[in-house]
Amino acid sequence: MTRIILVYGSTMGNTEILAGSVVEGLESGNVEVTVRNVTEVEPEELTNYDMVILGCSTWGEGELQDDFIEFYDRMEEISLKGKKSAVFGPGDSEIYPDSFCKAVDILEEILIKCEAKIIVESLKVDGEVEPAFGDAEAWGLKITKLL
Ligand SMILES: Cc1cc2nc3c(=O)[nH]c(=O)nc-3n(C[C@H](O)[C@H](O)[C@H](O)COP(=O)(O)O)c2cc1C
Repeated sequence: MTRIILVYGSTMGNTEILAGSVVEGLESGNVEVTVRNVTEVEPEELTNYDMVILGCSTWGEGELQDDFIEFYDRMEEISLKGKKSAVFGPGDSEIYPDSFCKAVDILEEILIKCEAKIIVESLKVDGEVEPAFGDAEAWGLKITKLL
């Protein structure tokens, strides 16, 4: 069975609850997933899995959520060659049109640098996250079909 880890960083809890919906989608496709807050995981641990899913909100003007910054810096040191990956996150295009969900793009770039393969288009959730629970679940299920 494909071993998947989902790592999220969340300041107000929006990415965290979105992660819950993604996990529901993965599980409905009969895939088990290890879920970790980015504060509880070392980048090296990603190498123990076949697929890495990262979830991160955007703060500042196009910056990673605070807890993700150190983790991101240390990702430079690891190789994810041969691993699958995907990224999701919430943002707000109305208030931050020029940096909408920039954290998602930043994480996709580092995953590519680490030689992971991005297997699905990222999920960017605009504004309130509750209306997007269905989309997040569908995105998780879609991933199971691409493994
Ligand atoms: C101070 C501040 C800065 C933000 N900057 C951005 C931004 O640059 N781009 C964006 O798309 N969203 C931005 N947002 C919106 C957050 O990403 C959004 O509220 C998100 O749902 C927070 O998720 P979290 O609770 O998981 O951290 C910002 C929000 C705040 C309060």
